[in-house]
Amino acid sequence: MKHFHFRENELYCEDTPVAEIAQEFGTPLYLYSRQQLVDNFRSIDGAFAGVDHTTCYALKANSNHELLKILVAEGAGADAVSAGEIHLALKAGFAPSTITFAGVGKQDAEIEFALKHDIFAFNVESTEELAVIDAIAGRMGRKARIALRVNPDIDASTHPYISTGLKSNKFGIDIAVAAEVFTYAHSLPNLHVDGIHTHIGSQILKLDPFVQTAQKVVKLVADLRASGINIQHIDFGGGYGVTYKNAVKHPLLPSEETTAADEAPMNGEFIGAVLPILRSAGCKIVIEPGRSIVANTGILVTKVLYRKDNGVKKFVIVDAGMNDLIRPSLYQAYHQIVPLTLKEGERESVDVVGPVCETGDFFARERTLPYVHRGDMLAILTAGAYGFSFTSHYNARPALAEVLVNGDKVRVIREREKIEDIK
Ligand code: LLP
Repeated sequence: MKHFHFRENELYCEDTPVAEIAQEFGTPLYLYSRQQLVDNFRSIDGAFAGVDHTTCYALKANSNHELLKILVAEGAGADAVSAGEIHLALKAGFAPSTITFAGVGKQDAEIEFALKHDIFAFNVESTEELAVIDAIAGRMGRKARIALRVNPDIDASTHPYISTGLKSNKFGIDIAVAAEVFTYAHSLPNLHVDGIHTHIGSQILKLDPFVQTAQKVVKLVADLRASGINIQHIDFGGGYGVTYKNAVKHPLLPSEETTAADEAPMNGEFIGAVLPILRSAGCKIVIEPGRSIVANTGILVTKVLYRKDNGVKKFVIVDAGMNDLIRPSLYQAYHQIVPLTLKEGERESVDVVGPVCETGDFFARERTLPYVHRGDMLAILTAGAYGFSFTSHYNARPALAEVLVNGDKVRVIREREKIEDIK
């Protein structure tokens, strides 16, 4: 996260001190770097130079309208999982011909909505869904372009909640019977079978699961072509992992012990590993990254409300809660936490917890941090993906403001909700 860095002992986003922004806009606050977003997108999209492809940004990671507009200007497509996300993508200016629609549980009204807007493709998850899309398209006098999501049974070695490419997961169609299902799809009058879709999980840190998946997919394309089904595109999902530990370094910051498994390869390396294999199929390539584009683009800035020592543990109680960033509570996910201003001095082991009435409301447990006081500001790093988009109103807490930094300029890209906004 090159665009978040310490100058002297102050955390900066691009050319702006984060503490100044927090003073002006209040906490808790999501804060994004425009340049980091653009750099991340280019590091992925640029790895395809000369190849027919679309980088369909997965809106679920963060669907802020202003961030989406930046990605549209960079030439991104959109990966949506609901009519709501298709609506947000269209509103931000993504061309319908670059929008894919994924998800195991598409409702009829959502299918109609997607057909009406003539999106690029439905990523279909089951035989029953094929029949439903065919029937709805027939009723509407349309032809639905589809890719069949194939479950390659590959272990992506990620958190079990975000692994999607194993037979035991709810996603896709078993690769062993995929050819039969493609033949069935091909027989339906209102479908145009255009692609193969795979997605093996999120926060994947190894290249090998991608390579194995690419090999399986390319073989399937060849088998299908031999049986007269001409696959035109491969939608090669699976989320490139990002580095959460020691994302920002400074001599006054404790550094976390890491193993090779904590370090994410560069975005371009994921693509470099599979591109030669995928290209051999001669198809258009679609990818659908979310986290690798937005995670290290954003931080959650929060203020220390209280300190508490119960004799067993020390707690630092902050003004952000699990309703603002659920990843630590839900996946025991690690996010680096840094004071906005670093000082020489004592360190201590603390639990950083929120105000929500749940024991699971924590951002870090037994974490060594510089000693902080009431009123100090902290940044929870690498919070741009599945941060704001996963917020809730639990405990009737208003949604946070989001701000965007561009060099030394800052603007609000989502107003903070007021108490009166809570229904
Ligand atoms: N496409 C499909 C079909 C997906 O299921 C996902 C993520 C993506 C694309 C984007 O994957 P990414 O590049 O972001 O890894 N809330 C969890 C992550 C859930 C991911 C679900 N699917 C977290 O905070 O770690």
